[in-house]
Amino acid sequence: MCGIIGIAGINNENVVNHIISGLEKLEYRGYDSAGIAVVQEGRIEKLRAVGKLQNLKTKLKNNPLSGGIGIGHTRWATHGKPTENNAHPIASEGVAVVHNGIIENYKELKFDLQKDGFIFETETDTEAIAHLLQREVNNGLSPRQAFQKVLGLIEGSYAIAAIFSSFPDVMMAARHRSPLAVGFGKYVCLGSDVSSISAICSDVVYLEDGEWVEIAHGRASFFDKNSNPIKPTKQKISDDLINTGKGEYAHYMLKEIMEQPSAIRRTILYNRIGGEIFHNVSRILILACGTSYYAGMVAKYWFEKFLKIPTDVEIASEYRYRTPIIGPNTLAIAITQSGETIDTLEALEYVRKNSNSKVAAVANVKNSAISRVSDFVFYTEAGVEIGVASTKAFTAQLVILAGIAFRNHEFLTREFQNLPSICEEALDLCDDIKGLAPKISTANSAIYLGRGPLYPIALEGALKLKEISYIHAEGFAAGEMKHGPIALIDDDIPVICLCPHNELFEKTASNIQVALARGKNIIIFTDLSGSELLPPETTKIILPRIHTEFTPIMYAIPLQLLAYYVALLRGADVDKPRNLAKSVTVE
Ligand code: G6P
Repeated sequence: MCGIIGIAGINNENVVNHIISGLEKLEYRGYDSAGIAVVQEGRIEKLRAVGKLQNLKTKLKNNPLSGGIGIGHTRWATHGKPTENNAHPIASEGVAVVHNGIIENYKELKFDLQKDGFIFETETDTEAIAHLLQREVNNGLSPRQAFQKVLGLIEGSYAIAAIFSSFPDVMMAARHRSPLAVGFGKYVCLGSDVSSISAICSDVVYLEDGEWVEIAHGRASFFDKNSNPIKPTKQKISDDLINTGKGEYAHYMLKEIMEQPSAIRRTILYNRIGGEIFHNVSRILILACGTSYYAGMVAKYWFEKFLKIPTDVEIASEYRYRTPIIGPNTLAIAITQSGETIDTLEALEYVRKNSNSKVAAVANVKNSAISRVSDFVFYTEAGVEIGVASTKAFTAQLVILAGIAFRNHEFLTREFQNLPSICEEALDLCDDIKGLAPKISTANSAIYLGRGPLYPIALEGALKLKEISYIHAEGFAAGEMKHGPIALIDDDIPVICLCPHNELFEKTASNIQVALARGKNIIIFTDLSGSELLPPETTKIILPRIHTEFTPIMYAIPLQLLAYYVALLRGADVDKPRNLAKSVTVE
């Protein structure tokens, strides 16, 4: 959700190309607009463009910028339409700012600043930060003093970086509830994620909430939330944080779908689930958003069946705004790819404030905010996920959750070892799945049906289709269809059913018959023995046989491929679907 970058060079060497390369890595965080600002001969020079980064690059060709210090931004619009005027960097007279987050008290700040004669030219909350800094610099404060003062005035969530025309060797940055890393190599850099700076940095410091940094003349000085100097430890940037590009694939999403067997293999290998997290636990509370929430829904089936612990799954953004009762001996588990989703983070804080519960996280991004506030962390070893629609991170989350559920069931633990190769077999069906895409790509709407732990997979399949192809799609518990959704079925609507030959097969097969009596575009994902018993007038994809408890993981994969190929046929931008962002750090 907005990506920011900053680079302080040495000997006034031009850093513009490095900023653009960093923005390329950050584009997954937002692509409503992009912009860059540098200090050039004592002036702030900026260039911004609406839409994807490519538009900024084209503009830069005709209007080259050069500067030894600079900041860049990719925007996911919150305050103000995605226009060039609202694009970051946002400048006051001699200050330019990039910001990820929301300044909640910007209206009051704006009112004050207007009284002081500042004219607001954008609809953004960020403009208040630029003018506040300008006001303090005009009052004679140094960038460090001005920044410290302004941090005391703003409320909300932010990662900010600022440069100053009169201090061409200084860059200031702060973090509060939006991620920001400070990288060290030939240059000192700032980045919303480590991938964006890994090409030019070898070590990194992750700012904690409230911390801020002054980068002056190539040296970084760090301060805590009370503005006391601190000396955080630098960490080596590890390879698994680096985005290695799309390789031979047309899209990150396809690459990430194809990487699932290895992501699953690594996740199984690196996670040993010890018994200590269940010490005194009589209830589990799962908090998550989006795709991660569906992973939580699957886990509920597994946890109650195998751990025999009652489990609630809650949408984090709802949970924190009601007055939920947290019973004694509850273990809270946050599931999150990014580890930064503000709703999930806030829901965990609610748990912290209102109970003595231990908190565990299932996260993909190491050192992310949620992993840092948790008592136990299980990292999915999916590697960097760039496609906005989550794929490999989702199946890796399921692997961790299954590992928790099955940990005392030796047979299932052994079966785990077969999962990666069976997923490979499922991926081998990609041409068959591609062949299904025309059956869906012209539809206005699609229905996904599943039972048991495949019900959340139906929801996730529908979400994938919505996210990247913009076809309206809904997932339903197959048994619920007769209570309303059946009214939607006609010959045109694709009905996509998940129907492995398991203990619920007969029930789902009857639901399929009911759908077939009313529509003719019925597509079924099943296995060989199921396919022989299902109506011939349906379209079937025969998936490899797998132990029934692992079907949610394997059945997610063909649904990802299906959404991908449908989106391709519709000419959609698969990796950067409209209006979405990968990491959502606003409420
Ligand atoms: C965004 C992404 C989704 C993701 C959700 C939760 O909406 O577009 O793909 O599932 O956030 O993200 P998290 O990082 O917490 O899993």
